[in-house]
Amino acid sequence: MVKQADWSEPVIFELGRKGRRGHILPAVEEGVKQVVGSVNTIIPENMQRKSKPKLPELSEVEVARHYIRLSQMNYGVDSGLYPLGSCTMKYNPKINESLANSKAMNMLHPYQDESTLQGILEILYRLERWLAEITGTYEVCLQPAAGAHGEFLGTSLIRAYHKFNGELEKRREIIVPDSAHGTNPASASMAGFNVVVVPSDKDGCVNIEALKEAVSERTAGLMLTNPNTLGIFEKNIEEIARIIHDAGGLLYYDGANLNAILGKVRPGDMGFDIVHMNIHKTFSTPHGGGGPGSGPVGVSEELAKFLPVPRVVFNGERYRLDYDRPHSIGKIRSFYGNVAVLLKAYAYILSLGNEGLREVAEISVLNANYVAEKLKGIKGLTLPYGDEVPRKHECVFSAKPLKRETGVSALDVAKRLLDYGLHAPTIYFPLIVDEALMIEPTETFEKEELDRFVEAMRKISEEAYKNPEVVLKAPHNTAVSRLDEVKASHPRTMILSWKMRLKKGGE
Ligand SMILES: Cc1ncc(COP(=O)(O)O)c(C=O)c1O
Repeated sequence: MVKQADWSEPVIFELGRKGRRGHILPAVEEGVKQVVGSVNTIIPENMQRKSKPKLPELSEVEVARHYIRLSQMNYGVDSGLYPLGSCTMKYNPKINESLANSKAMNMLHPYQDESTLQGILEILYRLERWLAEITGTYEVCLQPAAGAHGEFLGTSLIRAYHKFNGELEKRREIIVPDSAHGTNPASASMAGFNVVVVPSDKDGCVNIEALKEAVSERTAGLMLTNPNTLGIFEKNIEEIARIIHDAGGLLYYDGANLNAILGKVRPGDMGFDIVHMNIHKTFSTPHGGGGPGSGPVGVSEELAKFLPVPRVVFNGERYRLDYDRPHSIGKIRSFYGNVAVLLKAYAYILSLGNEGLREVAEISVLNANYVAEKLKGIKGLTLPYGDEVPRKHECVFSAKPLKRETGVSALDVAKRLLDYGLHAPTIYFPLIVDEALMIEPTETFEKEELDRFVEAMRKISEEAYKNPEVVLKAPHNTAVSRLDEVKASHPRTMILSWKMRLKKGGE
């Protein structure tokens, strides 16, 4: 059992006192003053702030203590197991952060002349090539800022392809299995397609008969999450590819779960035309708090001409940004994407190499299956969709029997795990599993940490049968107990800044 620190910490604006200083900015240098005349003329008149910014005034030590206290009331991937299924929350080696934070990186500006950006362009170019190699695709675009953004690019490419072939009017449907990630149907719909859902079979894979019935001349493509959200590798993948291609559709691979197959199999070799990756999952940038992320998209040779501009090209001597792509769908993001996240991925791939990446896949799959095997014996939990089928990156348990027999739900189990000093898994997803607990341990946690998780789950099950109240009212040992989750996600009640808080009367 763990007791989290509980500081009654005010927000930083309430902490300051007038006149306290932590850092004194250097005066504008004499040389600069001479060139521009006066300090104020450095900033154009129309951009000058008329009143002083209302910043909190604190000493350095106050700032340090404030953030340390807040961090003690938090839990991160550096604190311990973070088995958030579908999120691949893995340890981010610190060297990646140092590189992303280095002066060489931070002093770059995308409007610099290309001749002074050769280093970063080379990194982006090489990363594109590596990702193409890893996914078995022809060209990769690094621009999308998240997985869902990559999906939007992918579905827009499906659109561009059918438009180019004069078939867009007819091909209005994208097929999505019910075990897909929720962003898949949303992205298809945003690109203007109608979504046709096909059910899973008893093994948690696409029901081939239902797929055959869903396919028609209206099919623009199919989006497949593989390994799917049950952590299962689609067993009929080549047949699925053939059915869709024979009908004239394109195959989209949601590769956000790439961690499980790195260096083992490649979506391009399975026949997929478009693949997105979640750099911020597979390549070690954890993605709490909404970002920053990166969702590059790889495509087959036939689709490369539609990719967004600019493309980084190399003529053997120099790297250059190529805007001259007449069939490009245009721009989908400013500049080249979230470059700092891409740099971390570059460093991660470089440090692991081929063998290391393969080992990532092996250990992440081993860990998921280890946890699955251990949890199978726990009262109140079941592993739906065939407990003989090996899992890949994650396993999805159901707490339905536990709820029926004790009243303790998946949500209660997740909350109680916090008392044991562990992050909760994803819950109630995928929707095809009742009372779902979706567990993705990743390769970056050692056996002892996995055992600690399994032991906590066993104890919680025992508590549920003996004394359910303790689980129903959890967490007891954290800085905050149960939050009003509905209120917390309602836009009208959210207070996202100090300014908003002042406007609302500071309650
Ligand atoms: C399978 C799958 N597809 C797509 C996404 C969407 O990625 P993002 O959250 O970066 O938009 C996720 C998110 O974790 C995912 O797990």
